[in-house]
Amino acid sequence: MPGKVLVVKDLVKSFGGLVAVNRVSLEIEEKTLTLLIGPNGSGKTTLINLITGIYKPDEGKIFFDGGEITNLHPHEIFSRGLARTFQIPKPFTKLTVLENLLVACPRNPGEGFFSALRRAKWTKSEKEAIEKAFKLLKILRLDHLWDQEAAKLSGGQMKLLEIGRALMADAKLLVMDEPVAGVNPKLAHEIFRRLVELRDRLGITMLLVEHRLDIALQYADQVYVMASGSLISSGKPKEVVVDPQVIEVYLGG
Ligand SMILES: Nc1ncnc2c1ncn2[C@@H]1O[C@H](COP(=O)(O)OP(=O)(O)OP(=O)(O)O)[C@@H](O)[C@H]1O
Ligand SMILES: [Mg+2]
Repeated sequence: MPGKVLVVKDLVKSFGGLVAVNRVSLEIEEKTLTLLIGPNGSGKTTLINLITGIYKPDEGKIFFDGGEITNLHPHEIFSRGLARTFQIPKPFTKLTVLENLLVACPRNPGEGFFSALRRAKWTKSEKEAIEKAFKLLKILRLDHLWDQEAAKLSGGQMKLLEIGRALMADAKLLVMDEPVAGVNPKLAHEIFRRLVELRDRLGITMLLVEHRLDIALQYADQVYVMASGSLISSGKPKEVVVDPQVIEVYLGG
């Protein structure tokens, strides 16, 4: 599967009698931004929870970066380079923007690290982590806020910080559940532009769930559409929006 970062085959997940994800298969190419859309309750978050190991599938297989990850624990999946953000960002509000990135770094040397922040001399790994954090903060346009407490950030900046935290772990694929929910349109476009820049400059592949199609579609390379647990359409944004089945689930409601 050259060039495919993620391959999902025939995934099934039921909750009691409800089939939340019904034989879903999808493929994601390297360095692309894929959008997962569908009406409320169509199974998008459940699918993401399966991919990131939070739920175990009843059936089906998941391959990431050339290896099978079905049934691995979330931390094992994460350490292979599959990171995610949540619908509600959860930064450490008392820590600064920079510290929030540093604690998310897997090579974070632990306790001594914060005292190291105040020391004149940093070890090589600390220095590398800080350089990496600033590289991400620059792309996210948060670098000027590096010593601000996260609590003081705006909602949109909080979402960008959450993305930065997820990327500290050398993520190859970043999975995001509604990264611009509750953000005004201007800021939502700004966040998408930052995501596109992360894709183009750092080669990060992205899978994201989003309801606001008017904003999100123009940034997507590929779209998958779910309805009632099943995949009903996929393709380029232009193709998907004219698919009668997609129009029906969105407008036929
Ligand atoms: N842990 C759970 N236990 C029982 N039912 C669940 C659970 N998680 C999800 N479901 C059900 O599975 C179906 C799909 O839910 P899911 O959250 O995946 O939808 P979604 O597409 O993310 O919806 P939304 O757009 O509203 O976020 C829904 O009917 C939901 O009630
Ligand atoms: Mg959801």
